[in-house]
Amino acid sequence: MVALDGPSGTGKTTVARRLAERLGAGYLDTGAMYRVITLAVLRAGVDLADPEAVAASALDTVFTIGTSPQRPEIELAGEDVALEIRGPEVNFAVSPVSAVPAVRELLVTRQRALIEEVLTAVGGIVVEGRDIGTVVAPDAPLKVYLTASAEVRAARRSAQDNAAGRDTSHADALASVGRRDRLDSSRATSPLRPAEDAVHVDTSELTIDEVITALGELAGRRG
Ligand code: C5P
Repeated sequence: MVALDGPSGTGKTTVARRLAERLGAGYLDTGAMYRVITLAVLRAGVDLADPEAVAASALDTVFTIGTSPQRPEIELAGEDVALEIRGPEVNFAVSPVSAVPAVRELLVTRQRALIEEVLTAVGGIVVEGRDIGTVVAPDAPLKVYLTASAEVRAARRSAQDNAAGRDTSHADALASVGRRDRLDSSRATSPLRPAEDAVHVDTSELTIDEVITALGELAGRRG
């Protein structure tokens, strides 16, 4: 198992999927789980400042997260929401929703069960998130913490948004990435931070291929 943590815009999702394909392993995007719950909370019109209402809405949510690196389906009550969960509304609300302890408890339990299931079926899994090495799977044999400068992360985020047909300026992306990092790092329950035994990889100056090669070698030795 490989635990891949780090802030947004480090290339985590692309790296995690391609690494899983290369290793013949399963893949779990825990960020997508927080995003689906957030979409459900928004659609229910719940007040984000009311943690009990947010938790109740999360508990009611029926969703599916696929574990195939080629086609990880993301469904909310049977509806494909893969695109919608990357939109600006969810980007804005996901950090406050993820900071609610009952939401984390619910999703961490689900994540551990999915990891067990995939490990039994396929023998390996790459799991990406913010607290995988610290909370979800502290015994993972390989933990990686991806970083990149804020400028580079914002440039990647706006390029990604523009490719998806959303017009996001560099300044907006920088502000959004910075806000989410601040909220994710400062929350009381499982804040974003590297595990003590994580390997740090700064992707600012690396291509995706270079990152995959470096992690593939590490996984070959430890994964
Ligand atoms: O990785 P992604 O950008 O899709 O994650 C969206 C948000 O979900 C993060 O900004 C964070 O608030 C939350 N998250 C989390 N714990 C994880 C994965 C994501 O709190 N393991």
